[in-house]
Amino acid sequence: MYPRPIPRPVLTPADQASAAAKARFWNRVARKYAADPIADVAGYEATLQRVQALLSPEHSVLEIGCGTGTTALKLAASTRRMLATDISAKMIAIAREKLASLSQPLPQLRFGLADAETTASGGVCHDAVLAFNVLHLVSDLDQAIQAILSTLKPGGLFISKTPCLAEMNPLIPRLLVPLMRALGKAPDVLVFDAAQLQSALERRGFVIEAVERHGTKRKDIRVFIVARRPR
Ligand SMILES: C[S@@+](CC[C@H](N)C(=O)[O-])C[C@H]1O[C@@H](n2cnc3c(N)ncnc32)[C@H](O)[C@@H]1O
Repeated sequence: MYPRPIPRPVLTPADQASAAAKARFWNRVARKYAADPIADVAGYEATLQRVQALLSPEHSVLEIGCGTGTTALKLAASTRRMLATDISAKMIAIAREKLASLSQPLPQLRFGLADAETTASGGVCHDAVLAFNVLHLVSDLDQAIQAILSTLKPGGLFISKTPCLAEMNPLIPRLLVPLMRALGKAPDVLVFDAAQLQSALERRGFVIEAVERHGTKRKDIRVFIVARRPR
């Protein structure tokens, strides 16, 4: 069994500098990110339906790395309450604009600024934590998983969809991404495959309940994983 509460990772000065650099990058690209269309609409809809089926109107849900809130805005109505967080103030500002402009109010949903590797939950424990397209962007995968575990109730679900860059042509993560990073056009990324992500979750005590791919175009490197924190 886990000691309760699970300790949250402690921020070192290096962590703080890395978090600030991440926030700067994502602040810079936030407006463009908001304007970009979803690349695989059918795959995205499949993921939404799958997640909706896992959530319940009783659930308190945390989304980490929510970006401009597109997914939170679609899922919040299936929950009791949802806190969607991101490290980028610009992303959160856009998400709040979208929430404010809804024709129907969505009182379940709040957006907040938080680093998923440290303070994602604001001290509250959730029935489910969601992470879409973000685990490959953290600095330390084990630390991020520990932070996620610390925000989940025993028996709670972690649901993620994550690009596994090790499943791409190796020239992309090894050459193209570092080049784009040097030009300020790509963030720091972690390169792992689905098996490595699964092992990292299991090492921290998660029980894997599903491993799926929902993409409908070409090879899908984004693995969808459902994992449970044991009771
Ligand atoms: C590729 S976008 C994905 C956004 C959204 N989840 C989606 O699927 O459209 C990655 C997001 O993760 C956020 N992010 C990156 N590192 C983060 C961290 N350590 N903590 C919280 N958010 C982070 C970025 O600011 C950005 O909004």
